[in-house]
Amino acid sequence: MHNYLQKNKQTNIKAIKANAIAIGVMDSGVGGLTVMQHIHRLLPHEHLNYVADSQYAPYGSLSPESITDRCFTIADFLIEQNVKALVVACNTATAASIQLMRAKYALPIIGMEPAVKPAALASKNGIIGVLATVGTLKSAQFAALLTNYGQDIQVHTQGCIGLVECIERGEIHAASTKALIAEYCAPLLEAGADTIVLGCTHYPFVRDVIQGVVGEGVTVIDTGEAVAKHLQATLEVQSLLTSTEEEADVLVWTNNTAAYRDAVIQQLWGDNAVVRRIALR
Ligand code: DGL
Repeated sequence: MHNYLQKNKQTNIKAIKANAIAIGVMDSGVGGLTVMQHIHRLLPHEHLNYVADSQYAPYGSLSPESITDRCFTIADFLIEQNVKALVVACNTATAASIQLMRAKYALPIIGMEPAVKPAALASKNGIIGVLATVGTLKSAQFAALLTNYGQDIQVHTQGCIGLVECIERGEIHAASTKALIAEYCAPLLEAGADTIVLGCTHYPFVRDVIQGVVGEGVTVIDTGEAVAKHLQATLEVQSLLTSTEEEADVLVWTNNTAAYRDAVIQQLWGDNAVVRRIALR
């Protein structure tokens, strides 16, 4: 566990040790990095092994069966890397596949869902908006979330087609991204929402743009921090937290072949991630 990754000083390439133990994090693309940032902040000594399935993004346009196929492929890969827990840092994949994943794999699997419950508690006027992928919004899990926590409030949903793709390309501050955000937030503002849920892990990367569009009077909520705390509690209960105080290694695997790939990951994560190409079919 202590030597999860060993630096090869000559090439500066990191070789994976057979006794590797890290936390696996997965998403359709770079969005789950927003969740991993919270994990890294809360658990700075845990090694992190991330898969961005960017070649298949957005999951929102895939069938639930195809999403589950992707989740199994990625989980198999991460388990081969000897991860001790898996975070499905994607609302769409969680909705489509988490139950099937938990039935198939023995390790702890943490999922996520749009923060309807915290938003209902935070809203003063009882009107909330949810920005998410179409896949998440039409899932049975989201319907159950509304049944459980959306009964006494008005919930307005907005599928954000195309926004994941903008973020995948690193177009955080592009005028076209802002225009898309304005278009998607307009119906929620017209409905009077005073609280907006970021129901997709890509969206916190454009949180400032969203806040700028909706104004400071609207509360914007995402679930990354809550997921990190849930992961910490789960690892603690199962005695899986690392006892080392080493600097954590952050490895990002991606099947994105675009030229901008590494620059986008470094832009979104920072400069201390090792980016590796992976051919996950
Ligand atoms: N980050 C994923 C989510 O949370 C994006 C899904 C997609 O690729 O459509 O839903």
